[in-house]
Amino acid sequence: MNYENVLSEFQNGITTITINRPKKLNALNSDTIQELHDAFEEADNNEDTKVIIITGSGEKAFVAGADISEFAHFSVNEGGQLAAQGQALLFDFVENLSTPVIAAVNGFALGGGLELAMSCHFRVASSNARMGLPETSLGVIPGYGGTQRLPQLVGKGRAMEMIMTAGMIDAKQAFSYGLVNHVVEQDELLALCDKIASKIMKNSSVAIGKAIKAINANYKDGKDGYKVEIKQFGKCFGTEDFVEGTTAFLEKRKADFPGK
Ligand code: COA
Repeated sequence: MNYENVLSEFQNGITTITINRPKKLNALNSDTIQELHDAFEEADNNEDTKVIIITGSGEKAFVAGADISEFAHFSVNEGGQLAAQGQALLFDFVENLSTPVIAAVNGFALGGGLELAMSCHFRVASSNARMGLPETSLGVIPGYGGTQRLPQLVGKGRAMEMIMTAGMIDAKQAFSYGLVNHVVEQDELLALCDKIASKIMKNSSVAIGKAIKAINANYKDGKDGYKVEIKQFGKCFGTEDFVEGTTAFLEKRKADFPGK
């Protein structure tokens, strides 16, 4: 599929999705959110895509936030709808994909940008990255899951401070908070993400999809994560990947998993 604001490239089991509005620091307008939904869906449906990497184009920004020019004049109802639609189309959608998604945070990840990175399964940052939820400086609060996912990742007190001060933290601090798993120079960022993706690809995609479901269940209201784990664990026993994985171990050879 061809997109206006998004590039999608497949190579060696990895689909790399690049948000491509560098002149607007890759700010998320509604068209871009829809295109990202479509690109993620397309990659997830592709049997050959084992890992998805999302990054921003240019050297300055991952995403500098939701596009402020689009919502500056919204009413109460429109504001609520913006958050609900965005969460369903992109942020919750990405979090719940069974294909692993790595955020390669290559610069500013602010507001909706940090919220998008936090919806991904984990994050790797370049050393120039700056992250924050500046919404309260605009008289609004994070609306794409930021008030929920930031405390999950960094703890309530740090999230409170970041949201109240509307300030930015650098990559080093984000690493010390556990918000990003690795920090590297910008020109090494995608190579490191590819390397991590290659390690992931050696394992069962089917099992990884079930692990994502079980891990996410811990953060969902009304779900007992342990019960979800038991169910997903049991389901693994009915998969070809389980037969291959255990047979390969017993035959002292590398597993060759059938796929998604
Ligand atoms: N929405 C819409 N446009 C945005 C944007 C956003 N969130 N972030 C940046 N842009 C646009 C700017 O308006 C500017 O457009 P222009 O050249 O047509 O005037 C362009 O991107 C470049 O940004 P600029 O502000 O000139 O770059 P800078 O290096 O001086 O500052 C930032 C970089 C990230 C500090 C600054 O752009 C910023 O504070 N952005 C908003 C961050 C924010 O509040 N995000 C949360 C939104 S809820």
